[in-house]
Amino acid sequence: MEIQHNFSLKNYNTFGIEAKAKQFIAIKSVTELKTLLATTQSVTKFILGGGSNMLLTQDIDALVIHIDLKGKKIIDEDEDFVWVESQAGENWHEFVLWTINQDFGGLENMSLIPGNVGTTPVQNIGAYGTEIKDCFVSCNTVAIANQESVAFNKEECHFGYRESIFKNNVKDQYIITSVVFKLTKRNHKINTSYGDITGELDRNNITIPSLRDISNAVIAIRQSKLPDPKELGNSGSFFKNPIISKSEFEPIHAKFPEMKYFEISATEVKVPAGWLIEQAGFKGKRFGDAGVHKNQALVLVNYGNATGQEILDVSKEIQQTIFRTYGIHIEAEVNII
Ligand code: EPU
Repeated sequence: MEIQHNFSLKNYNTFGIEAKAKQFIAIKSVTELKTLLATTQSVTKFILGGGSNMLLTQDIDALVIHIDLKGKKIIDEDEDFVWVESQAGENWHEFVLWTINQDFGGLENMSLIPGNVGTTPVQNIGAYGTEIKDCFVSCNTVAIANQESVAFNKEECHFGYRESIFKNNVKDQYIITSVVFKLTKRNHKINTSYGDITGELDRNNITIPSLRDISNAVIAIRQSKLPDPKELGNSGSFFKNPIISKSEFEPIHAKFPEMKYFEISATEVKVPAGWLIEQAGFKGKRFGDAGVHKNQALVLVNYGNATGQEILDVSKEIQQTIFRTYGIHIEAEVNII
């Protein structure tokens, strides 16, 4: 274990923002993690996974602990299902491809989402009609305060739309070290409910899609809309799609009948923030090195040397304009540090 000082985090956040950690350490085993926590009790800590869901607006005056735990394995199986455990530091997309290579079903719609496995439960990542809660069994964690190992099952995680207990009641109290998923070995539940996927399969004349066909379709859609963080710094969707009550939505809809929306319950609708941002004229706009992506308005990008503050300023300008125009508040999805 080696603590580094004044360490650049540019390669550790997918926005590619230059910010320094006062101290930085990469952790390779749970034992190492427990020892570190026990010996640095009075030190302020910041836990860093894949850095794919945060905007650094300042240097981090803390010990940054980068969770670099590797390994994935089958821990149980029966005729229909397999239980797989992945360590937190595995790259999410590589893990998804590993499951597809073995014809294990459940994660294929979430192909190509940036980040590491350990952070997926924190915001219950999702795409194209599925969320990780659909396959999630449990996650293993270490309590920061007393270094005890604590497992959380699905109910205990309180998953919601881009939400979990780890963003709320127990925020900053536990470090996720591994995640267990239950995947199908046969009778896969192929999910083509999302229009974009059906379109992509039709284009390729695929009528009975395999897990790999779905994964390839999702990869093609994402590559056409979402920038690759290796080429253009970004953190995926910067904002959440706002969920509003029907009674609040009705007068807005009467004023803007062309507004897109999806009914999500008897009383609520979800409005695509990407649509609002595009209509407000921000899509593809650039402000210095900060900007709004040209193919997906929900994604803010760093053209090279934007500071976190510059990107934050653009996000605030967007929020204010949307609120002024539509009376709808859009909330950031990424963590602002
Ligand atoms: N839209 C526009 N203009 C835009 C973007 C979107 O009008 O610039 C409209 C689209 O036409 C469509 C609707 O908004 O009618 C929804 O668009 P899309 O299917 O691209 O999905 P999204 O709601 O913008 C969400 C997730 C994405 C996920 C996709 C696909 C959130 C915050 N984002 O985006 O997740 O990949 O659905 O399932 O829920 C992420 O969280 O980082 C992420 C990329």
